[in-house]
Amino acid sequence: MARVTVAVPGRPYPVLIGQGALQELPRMMRELGASAAAVVTDLTVGGIWGEAVRDALTGLGIHASLLAVEPGERAKTLDGLIRVLEFLEDVALDRQGVVVAVGGGAVGDLAGFAAAVWLRGVRHVQVPTTLLAMVDSSVGGKTGVDTARTKNAIGAIWQPSAVISDLALLATLPEEDYLAAFGEVVKYAVAMDGELALRLERSCDGLLGRSPAALEPVVARCVELKARVVAEDEREAGPRAILNYGHTVGHALESASGYRAAHGRAVAFGMQAAARIAARLGRCAPDLVRRQDELLAAFGLPGALPPVPLPDLLAAIPRDKKRRAGRVRWVLPEDLGRARVGVEVADEVVAEVVGTLAP
Ligand SMILES: NC(=O)c1ccc[n+]([C@@H]2O[C@H](COP(=O)([O-])OP(=O)(O)OC[C@H]3O[C@@H](n4cnc5c(N)ncnc54)[C@H](O)[C@@H]3O)[C@@H](O)[C@H]2O)c1
Ligand SMILES: [Zn+2]
Repeated sequence: MARVTVAVPGRPYPVLIGQGALQELPRMMRELGASAAAVVTDLTVGGIWGEAVRDALTGLGIHASLLAVEPGERAKTLDGLIRVLEFLEDVALDRQGVVVAVGGGAVGDLAGFAAAVWLRGVRHVQVPTTLLAMVDSSVGGKTGVDTARTKNAIGAIWQPSAVISDLALLATLPEEDYLAAFGEVVKYAVAMDGELALRLERSCDGLLGRSPAALEPVVARCVELKARVVAEDEREAGPRAILNYGHTVGHALESASGYRAAHGRAVAFGMQAAARIAARLGRCAPDLVRRQDELLAAFGLPGALPPVPLPDLLAAIPRDKKRRAGRVRWVLPEDLGRARVGVEVADEVVAEVVGTLAP
């Protein structure tokens, strides 16, 4: 079992990663002095793992109630939030109680936000069940819901009290969700950790086979990397921007395709664009583009993307001029494991590079 501490000032919390980590949940709840647990999951995850979670908790004498919301983004709305808050009210969760989010990033963001606002804030524990949630969304404290028009429009920074990533839970995750998450994993490697890139190359077969032995060090390393920037920059004033590598064009592809592109695949595409921009500007060697392409391809990335007309895609990419106080958002790789944030890129260069790549 790997253990990483997210050292946010004043309230550090542990992330446990490993096969069977779920067994640690009751002990963790005891350590938190939790009187009751309000488990929030979705219908899919709850159908598979919900009872196991509840039994584990009640077995140790913690009173546990469970709510299962619609799977995926559909529940991550203000209506979904109201449902969760009414559930917390129904079970009379008090300040000693803890919300336990069991699911992917959608459940984690929704339940975490409910915890942030219920009684002006109760504790929550994240039990991520997707690879994306394990390497990204469960750590860092961003919580929230979407509006009809804007993803993550409403939210709060509310750090969990613990994160428990049981790699065994990934066994039932659909292949598409599993593979797309490697977009984020490769992001950490290329932008922040050349060693991780080498490890991904070495252990690709084990990772594709979801071997816990191959996954544990990779998930732990991604969490460490995210934890480091989050601890430095909880509110994303500066260094946390490195986590946006691949996301400038990635987000544009997602929105221009009406969110038909899987996030991880869109990010993989965005990294291909960013690396090509960097090479075009002489900020990295052309060989980096090739190595990153190979690393992505090993996980089937970016793979099939929805066709988006180039003008729509370009129109969705934020331009420097539109950015507040001229702050530039490009994160460009310099070498395998190193990227620079806040680089200015001329619109023509963006258009030229994206034009050669567009799906
Ligand atoms: N808070 C953050 O910092 C942050 C970061 C990245 C993404 N996000 C958010 O995360 C969300 C995406 O998260 P996601 O990719 O985990 O998707 P998700 O939560 O929508 O889950 C994807 C699907 O997989 C199913 N599923 C989950 N775990 C399963 C399992 N073990 N077995 C079988 N099925 C399972 C779910 O029911 C769902 O249908 C988005 O809303 C995004 O905005 C948040
Ligand atoms: Zn992302």
